[in-house]
Amino acid sequence: MQNDGSGRIVVQGLSKTFGPVAAVQNLSFVVEPGAVTGFLGPNGAGKTTTLRMILGLVTPTAGVATISGLRYDQLGYPARIVGAVLENEGFHPKRTARNHLRIYAAAIGMPDQRADEVLALVGLTTAANRKPGEFSLGMRQRLALATALLGNPQVLVLDEPANGLDPEGILWLRNFLRAYAREGRTVLVSSHLLSEVEQTIDQVVIISHGVTRYFGSLEQLRAGQQSRVLVQAADPNALVKALQEAGFTQLETTPDGRVAVLGATREQIGDLTAKAGLAVYGMEEDRADLEKLFFQLTNGGYSAAQYQPQQQQYPPPPAGGWGPPPAPPQAGYPPQQPYQTPPGGYQQPGPYQGWGGQR
Ligand SMILES: Nc1ncnc2c1ncn2[C@@H]1O[C@H](COP(=O)(O)OP(=O)(O)OP(=O)(O)O)[C@@H](O)[C@H]1O
Ligand SMILES: [Mg+2]
Repeated sequence: MQNDGSGRIVVQGLSKTFGPVAAVQNLSFVVEPGAVTGFLGPNGAGKTTTLRMILGLVTPTAGVATISGLRYDQLGYPARIVGAVLENEGFHPKRTARNHLRIYAAAIGMPDQRADEVLALVGLTTAANRKPGEFSLGMRQRLALATALLGNPQVLVLDEPANGLDPEGILWLRNFLRAYAREGRTVLVSSHLLSEVEQTIDQVVIISHGVTRYFGSLEQLRAGQQSRVLVQAADPNALVKALQEAGFTQLETTPDGRVAVLGATREQIGDLTAKAGLAVYGMEEDRADLEKLFFQLTNGGYSAAQYQPQQQQYPPPPAGGWGPPPAPPQAGYPPQQPYQTPPGGYQQPGPYQGWGGQR
């Protein structure tokens, strides 16, 4: 069999059970090159398990995942074709970022200088001689991405890459991934939050409880959402009455006193209010609420039960009361330790430029 060179990821009837847990059930989808595809689902939905199967790290119970027409283990130089960042990447804490990258570069037959190239790509040039053990979460994410980029791969698979990134880092990642995909490469990123990746992705695969719920373009998903018009009226009650009489029944009053009308255009409402002689101060079309739809599609996953105050069900206090309140903290708590200057004194901060990376 031959690598078809497409960079396309095909997942067909993929299933994985861990003992009694059906982590992934009969998943099928295609990830095309030239776009950023979001792989979305709530915690425990099976995202990491699926990505690990795509990357040959977990053996599927059934089904197959291929990249460019081949299973991962059939790809000749996988790291030169697929770059991946999975959860909980470990780094040698005492090795500098540059040395870490050089070791990985050597392992896949890339020259030393590639280490500095990928450090620059992810905005870590100024941290090249520092050790990942002293990196922040966001910096470690960047180093993991740099490692994945070493082989200049055609396909990039990232598990929750936005975790730990600050808003600037998220913006940088978004621009980076979009530019990478624009070069005709395949980018698959998982997230449990639609809002986190909404502006990054073009295509979306939504799973929940190991099952595919939606697979297609984000635009189509949005278009399928009914929009609503928010109307600010002088007399909301009269407006509701007039709308109901005209056959618009899906009405709601928003907390700020506006009337939300589903299934009507602004023109229809404008004509209707003009005819009824009702004063309208403003109208606004409400953007489709994707997050709500995502929630419906995924059914919340491991969503917590709503908190219900149930004081009345607690047992009554014992005869004689609850006893004395706990003793106050002893004097001297919290321990007062004299602040010590580290040996050698404090370092002057260097010309820190932030982790903005290339733009
Ligand atoms: N090695 C394993 N052994 C047993 N169960 C596992 C194993 N790996 C995953 N699971 C189970 O499979 C299900 C899916 O887990 P997975 O990590 O794929 O979800 P996820 O979508 O990545 O979640 P998150 O958003 O929290 O990262 C969970 O119920 C999990 O407990
Ligand atoms: Mg996961």
